Amino acid sequence: MDAGPGFWLPRQGSTSAAKVDFLFRAVTNISIFFFVLITVVLFYFVWKYRARPGHTAQPSADHNQKLEITWTVIPLLIVIWIFWEGFAGFLDLQTPPINAYEVQVLGQKWKWLFTYPNGVVDDNLHVPPDEPVRLVMTSQDVIHSLYMPEFRIKRDALPGRYEREWFQATAPGEYQIFCAEYCGTSHSGMIAKVIVHRSRPEFEAWLAEAGNFLDKLPPEKLWEGGQKLYNQRGCKQCHSVDGASGIGPSFKGIWGHQQPLTGGGSALVEENYVRESIVNPQAKIVAGYEPVMPTYQGRLKDKEITAIIAYLKTLE
Ligand code: CUA
Repeated sequence: MDAGPGFWLPRQGSTSAAKVDFLFRAVTNISIFFFVLITVVLFYFVWKYRARPGHTAQPSADHNQKLEITWTVIPLLIVIWIFWEGFAGFLDLQTPPINAYEVQVLGQKWKWLFTYPNGVVDDNLHVPPDEPVRLVMTSQDVIHSLYMPEFRIKRDALPGRYEREWFQATAPGEYQIFCAEYCGTSHSGMIAKVIVHRSRPEFEAWLAEAGNFLDKLPPEKLWEGGQKLYNQRGCKQCHSVDGASGIGPSFKGIWGHQQPLTGGGSALVEENYVRESIVNPQAKIVAGYEPVMPTYQGRLKDKEITAIIAYLKTLE
């Protein structure tokens, strides 16, 4: 069976794709075969036994035991085979190999985030080739569904619980990820890529480099790293950069200004205030907002907080 994209199905990118396609085609072809057979026989009998002048009705035939047993047993064996193949494939897709490489997946409106064992967070799913990869998936808000057509897998990401999904990519390249569960305004924009690296060392090299992307930035570009963190780490969901009020106050134009606080008083937005608001968000609540922000202590490194501060300074 070819691995390239066909007219009916996308290319086969994982070890399970060929098995899924085989069964899918088998069920489709069996359905077409019986549909044609039954329809042809039906029309033939309608024509053969039609009412016509000079034709007298014959007493209808009694049953034919051999024929009835045949058309009961053969389909029964076929559906048992379909069940068996489907069930075996289902169990296979449900059971990640024990040595699989693990990536954490977080669905959120409207973005996928992939977290690697060394703490790297990326918008795309990078994996080594020819190795089983286990995804441990959850959602930050509503139900999403991680769908990778070329790998023939799809599974819901649910808030408050973990779902598992696994695959083994067979060829390097880029593959599409969709969200397959309607989750609101930008559901159709909730797309990402699977990037299957050419080898395990190449994947490791990418991972190491992604782990210290801030170190690679010159000081005057540090704010770009902060912008990336703002987009990736969940700041964006509550804090706008265009002045619009969200779950939290906008970041636009607050640097160097006083923020009125709940319970009176105000705070100057400078480095220590921003740092405190990230690691201990309940310490000072801006007037008019709820104390709902979770702490980022341990989730953002000092260098990352510095980059976010640098980004805030650019939002005048
Ligand atoms: Cu997320 Cu649709």
